Amino acid sequence: MDLNYTDKIEAAVSFIQSKIGNKKPLVGIVLGSGLGELAEKIENRVVIPYTEIPNFAQSTAVGHKGNFIAGELGGKFVVAMQGRFHYYEGYGMDQVTLPIRVMRELGISYLFVSNAAGGVNMSFRVGDLMIIKDHINLMPNPLIGKNLDKFGPRFPDMTRPYDLNLIKLANDVAASLNIKLHEGVYLAGTGPTYETPAEYAFFRTIGADAVGMSTVPEVIVARHSSIPVFGVSVITNEAFGFTEDFENDGDDVVKAANMAAQKMNDLFITLISKL
Ligand code: HPA
Repeated sequence: MDLNYTDKIEAAVSFIQSKIGNKKPLVGIVLGSGLGELAEKIENRVVIPYTEIPNFAQSTAVGHKGNFIAGELGGKFVVAMQGRFHYYEGYGMDQVTLPIRVMRELGISYLFVSNAAGGVNMSFRVGDLMIIKDHINLMPNPLIGKNLDKFGPRFPDMTRPYDLNLIKLANDVAASLNIKLHEGVYLAGTGPTYETPAEYAFFRTIGADAVGMSTVPEVIVARHSSIPVFGVSVITNEAFGFTEDFENDGDDVVKAANMAAQKMNDLFITLISKL
């Protein structure tokens, strides 16, 4: 990690504050593949392209727009990332997670994360939503390197990576909106390959319900700073029962995420309105 990392964070924070003011956002939101539409529902919004923000990486992944957006959602002041950075794009973990540190410095009280994921649990179907209740990290840990004491301890606790109160509230909200939710374990690999059938079977055996290529680095960095996290996976493909001509395809994943986005948007917005 760069010696100047904290300065890089501060430069991005100052730039963003020069555009949105010093008011603290209640929630930071990271929108995954095909899930960026929620950002269009933010009212009175200020849109800052990543290209303008000092030290931000650029979005190269399919279905990721590349805007940092501030405004009101569910009546609360929020900031959102319309598109995230992935390790498989070639970015270091410090670049992948820099926006989370920036959001922390902006003063968020909660982090909401979303992603498109493969359904490893055989009861999951394309278009289902899964609340992330725990994760398995098979990526490099983003906190490797000199500890940033200002942000949190050397050895952060990971007993409760996802906030139990937010999960309970989400289940109540989903019931009132008639949205069916699963709860499960998200496993993060580096990608960019999708898994082999044997890898999907292995992940099921070790306790994963869904698998993807993101989210966990951001969650670890948020938890380093004790920020409560709420996460949802949108199941975009079923990682079992492969027919002879089935192939995983990035465009299909984005399409499936787009189709389920409405449910996730309703869940996020109502949940945020109750914070
Ligand atoms: N594997 C990894 N990442 C994914 C998948 C998958 O099956 N689906 C969407 N993102």
